[in-house]
Amino acid sequence: MVAVLSDLAPLDVFDADYLYFYETFQTAAVNEVETELVARLLDLEGTHDVLDACCGAGRIANRLAARGHRVTGIDSNPLFCRLGRSEAAAAAVTVDYRCEDIRHLADEASFDVVLSWFSSFGYWDDRTNVDILRRFRRALRPGGQLLLDLPNPALLMRQLGPGGEAVRRVRRAGEHDLMEDHIGVDLESSELQVSRRIVRNGADRTVHLACRLYTPSELSARLKRTRFGLTAILGDDGHALHADSTRQLLLATAI
Ligand SMILES: C[S@@+](CC[C@H](N)C(=O)[O-])C[C@H]1O[C@@H](n2cnc3c(N)ncnc32)[C@H](O)[C@@H]1O
Repeated sequence: MVAVLSDLAPLDVFDADYLYFYETFQTAAVNEVETELVARLLDLEGTHDVLDACCGAGRIANRLAARGHRVTGIDSNPLFCRLGRSEAAAAAVTVDYRCEDIRHLADEASFDVVLSWFSSFGYWDDRTNVDILRRFRRALRPGGQLLLDLPNPALLMRQLGPGGEAVRRVRRAGEHDLMEDHIGVDLESSELQVSRRIVRNGADRTVHLACRLYTPSELSARLKRTRFGLTAILGDDGHALHADSTRQLLLATAI
């Protein structure tokens, strides 16, 4: 395992192969269910200004726009922004896709909601992560809401085998295409480390991803420091977080 938490966003992981393998479980139906959960947790009645921070190819942003919200999607990956735009056009919805680095977000009091969905936070050192929360706070109007969706560290730790590693495989095209994750946690730095083997189109390559794992109380402390009031800590089903929740969802209000 290599530790790669640094200044550099792990952009090599987020590419066409990522979308290819992830669409096996992020199907249109799943994306719709997740969008419904987002809307329910944020109580999104009427029309709101929503920032989808690190929106990927727009699977949630476009669906929120279809529900009548004014959505801005920021992602640093040009391919994902392009795909988001073309899916928006096909669905006849409008999303303002901005191909930008979230670490430079400078919007002020422009949004009712900042959404950070599906592990889109924590890729940097703690100081940078906290700075991003501060930028989210600045981008929100007073009373605006932040929804963070991150892995549940309690579950992740339990999934590690005796060697301190978990292995996950996703196959497509029969046995031909493979995404194989070797997942570990550096306990000293609380860093989730993924070594990902991708076998596809005749190539066999390995990419690395690292992400700071935060417990709910660590996140809560950082949210307080950045002038958020924590409203709820939930599991992936939108009910109370528990040891088997795959995700932790933190809802906070700009104060
Ligand atoms: C795990 S994906 C989640 C995407 C999306 N939120 C979803 O629900 O599918 C994380 C996203 O963060 C984006 N990303 C990584 N570093 C970034 C940065 N510095 N600025 C903006 N986006 C970034 C990647 O391009 C990728 O689309």
